[in-house]
This record gives sequence, C-alpha cells and structure tokens, in this order.
Amino acid sequence: MKKCLLVTGSKGLIGTRFFELFGDTCELISGDLDDGFDLLDPSTFENTIAGRSVDAIVHLAAFTDVSGAYSQQDDKSGSCYRLNVTGTDNIVALANQLDAYLVHISTDFVFDGKRNTPISETNTPNPIEWYGETKLLAEQLVFEKAKTWAMVRIAFPFLREEGVRPDLVASITTKLRAGDFLYLFSDQIITPTFADDIAKAIWRMTEKQPDQEVYHVMGPQSMSPFELGHLVAGNLNLSTENITETSLLEYLEKDPRPRQQYMAMDTSKYRTFCEEHGYDQPMSVTQALSST
Ligand SMILES: NC(=O)c1ccc[n+]([C@@H]2O[C@H](COP(=O)([O-])OP(=O)(O)OC[C@H]3O[C@@H](n4cnc5c(N)ncnc54)[C@H](OP(=O)(O)O)[C@@H]3O)[C@@H](O)[C@H]2O)c1
Repeated sequence: MKKCLLVTGSKGLIGTRFFELFGDTCELISGDLDDGFDLLDPSTFENTIAGRSVDAIVHLAAFTDVSGAYSQQDDKSGSCYRLNVTGTDNIVALANQLDAYLVHISTDFVFDGKRNTPISETNTPNPIEWYGETKLLAEQLVFEKAKTWAMVRIAFPFLREEGVRPDLVASITTKLRAGDFLYLFSDQIITPTFADDIAKAIWRMTEKQPDQEVYHVMGPQSMSPFELGHLVAGNLNLSTENITETSLLEYLEKDPRPRQQYMAMDTSKYRTFCEEHGYDQPMSVTQALSST
C-alpha cells in the first residue's frame, strides 16, 4: 500500500515542488488554506484527512514574510506568531493524535549569523528578528511535545524556473534578463539550496524516519549574494555589467530591520545521512541550474 502523507503549506514554494516530485510515489493529502485546511482551526483537520490513515505529516505551512514579521515584533496576537507557533502546536498535537511521524521544516534564521564559521546542528540558536524567534519557538514545541519527528532546517530555497513566488535566484535571473540593475551585498554569506534537494530530503526523512534528529539540509556552497549574482549570470550566459556590489553593514546603518550576516551552514550531518543510505547529495547552484 502507498504511504500516506499530510503536507501542510502544500501550495507554497517547497510544497508545490514536493507534490510535483512525489505526487505519484505516495498518497499526498494537501493541507493548505485553499483546501479548507487551516493550521489555526483544528476543526478543519478531520475533513481534510477524511478517515485516511496518515503515516507522516510534513509541516511546511508558516508565516514566511520576514519583513512582514518584523512589523509584528513581539506581537503574540499577530499572524506571524499565531501561524508559526500556535499553528505548529496544533500540528504537533495532530501528529501525536494520529501516531504519525512529523517532519518539521525550520530555517537558518533561528541563528544570529554573527560567527564567520559554518553553523552546525549543535550550535545554539539565537534569532535576531521576529520570524526567526517564532520559528525557534516552533522548534521548541516539536522538541518538547512531538512523539516522533525529524527537523529539517533549510536556507534560501531556489527553483530552476520561477515558481509560485519569487526566490532569490529567480529574482536575479529575471532582473538580469530584463537588463535591470542589481544591487547585491558582498559582505554577507548565504547558503542557497535547490528546492528539489529540500523536497528529496523531506521524502527521505519519511522513508528512513530518523527519530528526534535535526538536519541542516542546504546546498554545498555558501557565498555572498554578489557572488551568487555572478554565478547565475555565468551559468545563463548573461552580462554581469548591471550587477553592483553593495554592503550589508552600510545598509544596516539606514534600515532598522536586523539581518544575519554570516550564514554558512555545516551540512555534514545530512551529507553523512545521504552517504549511509545511498542517496545523492544536494546540488550546487551550477549543477542545479544546468540539471534537467
Ligand atoms: N522560502 C524561504 O526562503 C525559506 C527559508 C528557510 C525556511 N523556510 C521554511 O520552509 C517552510 C516552507 O516555506 P515555503 O517557502 O514553501 O513557504 P510559502 O511559499 O510561504 O508557503 C506557505 C504556505 O502555507 C500556507 N498557509 C498560510 N497560512 C496557512 C494556514 N493557516 N493553514 C494552512 N496553510 C497556510 C500559505 O497559503 P497562502 O499563500 O494562501 O497564505 C502557503 O501556501 C516554512 O516553514 C518556512 O518557514 C522557508
């Protein structure tokens, strides 16, 4: 019998790709607002599940607008807190009630980005803005209350083509193709991650079901947005003349919203997991853009 997974936030950037890649492999139940499934209203859960036996829940749904979250700082009645914290609490309760394995998706933004060395799962989170704070509170709920789970932290997901909403690589590509100017930080480090690799990692978690483990599932290269701009231009044979180098530190002098500076991620734990199970490794930006 096919495995049955409930996927919250299934119509989002990662959820859409997960359905495209694994929709035929197993029975996927779409848990998004469009389907009448509301994280904040547990009375909607039963209708969506409709008596099916759920083996695992993939919890993607979240408030993901980091700037929007900033304008709600410390507001526990705001949509960011309610979706990320109360919503996760409801999903943990559902997973426990169904005896379902939980794959919880979190973010590199639980870290402060102050160390210029790769961040591993053993480093202590210290969020510097409200989105990261609420995502860390969600993580803590999983640690404390979920029965059986894996946590997948991801960073800067990108698709090969523009998806349901723009990602950084897609935005760079669109601007380069249109001949627009790009202003990209050269003193910030990020770790772009191919969305297909994130979808695969989630699937692998449901297959192997490691229990109470956190994984950093990110791409193999960390780089500045400025370097990323050049990399994308090089891969697509587009001119780099419109790419201007800017400074995060100078930008922060004018903009009050905190931003993480060094987000190189140590992914060795997930890489070992892949090796042990004979899975392929996450792709670099170049590999991802040239893959079919
Ligand atoms: N994208 C990133 O840069 C990034 C980076 C690191 C970590 N993450 C994490 O990865 C996960 C997936 O991210 P994503 O980029 O795929 O998210 P996304 O594109 O923002 O999608 C989130 C989905 O959740 C849905 N949703 C919102 N409120 C809901 C509710 N009350 N009940 C059910 N569904 C609801 C949204 O519907 P509407 O569109 O109708 O609101 C949307 O379809 C999130 O947990 C996020 O924190 C993302």
